[in-house]
Amino acid sequence: METIAKIWEKLDEKLSVTAVKSFDKIPYTSFNGVHDNKAETDICWWTNGFWPGLMLLMYNGTGKDVYLNCARNGQKLLDGAFKNRDGLHHDVGFMWHISSGADYRLTGDSTARTRALFAADMLMGRYMLKGGFIRAWNDENNTDRTGWTIIDCMMNIPLLYWASEELKVSNYREVAIAHADMTLRDHIRPDGSVNHICVHNTATGELLETLGGQGVGVGSCWSRGQAWAIYGFIQSYTHTKDVKYLDAAKKCANYFIASLNGEFVPVSDFRAPKEPVIYDTTAGVIAACGMIEISKVLDENEGRLYLDTAIKIIKETDERFCNWSEDEDTIVQMGSESYHSEKGQLPIIYGDYYLAEAVSLLMGFDRTN
Ligand code: GLY
Repeated sequence: METIAKIWEKLDEKLSVTAVKSFDKIPYTSFNGVHDNKAETDICWWTNGFWPGLMLLMYNGTGKDVYLNCARNGQKLLDGAFKNRDGLHHDVGFMWHISSGADYRLTGDSTARTRALFAADMLMGRYMLKGGFIRAWNDENNTDRTGWTIIDCMMNIPLLYWASEELKVSNYREVAIAHADMTLRDHIRPDGSVNHICVHNTATGELLETLGGQGVGVGSCWSRGQAWAIYGFIQSYTHTKDVKYLDAAKKCANYFIASLNGEFVPVSDFRAPKEPVIYDTTAGVIAACGMIEISKVLDENEGRLYLDTAIKIIKETDERFCNWSEDEDTIVQMGSESYHSEKGQLPIIYGDYYLAEAVSLLMGFDRTN
């Protein structure tokens, strides 16, 4: 654990500087080492909660005001997204659960609570009553996407579990459970690998087809989707104590571990051709968070595989793919938006967020989400 404490120290050293440099921004990636700013270019972008969320993880672990101030400013900037309702979709969970939701849970701030509850209500509005699922994206380029679900949504529904507990209203939780059950049925394949996108009949919920999404293609296994499944299902287990979600998290984690193939940093798609090698460091750190949480609810013998793998992923990500220079703004390099992305390998804000979350969990700090 000495190495993990050292990584936490490095996170604090670098991020306490970056929190000042990027105070007025909501970063997504960087250009020439400098954070970009989605607050100026695309306030509704799905990743815009990660920067304030990262600041809150650091505040939680250090108590330093520099982080809370930056997180508060990030949330104010993010309020701009509420003015463009049509620009938002199911990722309001990602956007507000780990930012304002975390702020409220850590500090009791009532404005933060209101923001997170507004987001929960928006997510509820996407539930297809007859189909029994939360629709993912809005229509685009004349494509009707009403019946589309994506595996990533398992990470949005924790907002609903929280809202249910906060308001003492069961509807939110029931919707979350219905969506998790659909995901288990349609997205998780018998071998534990994951379909990224499923298309459903909206009147019956019947699965019509699966799409390749951000992986190589139909039937492939996009590693970040696999990671969302691991972390999403273990959170559904934590909130419901329904053992089928724990079993799903383990099954998806087992597939992920078996696919690592000797390296503890995943490629972007586990069923991709051998060449070119496209890494996705973000998938590794997300999966590590899920595996840490799985290990916590199992006895030591059974949990060891998951905890050891998570630690190996974090250490290898640190050794091979982290930039600790305070002259440049991002930390985790070599993320991938999608297998076919023309942007190639790049640092992405959720790589830094989930690295910090994994290390924070290993340090024994309380969860913020
Ligand atoms: N939620 C979209 C992604 O993981 O890229």
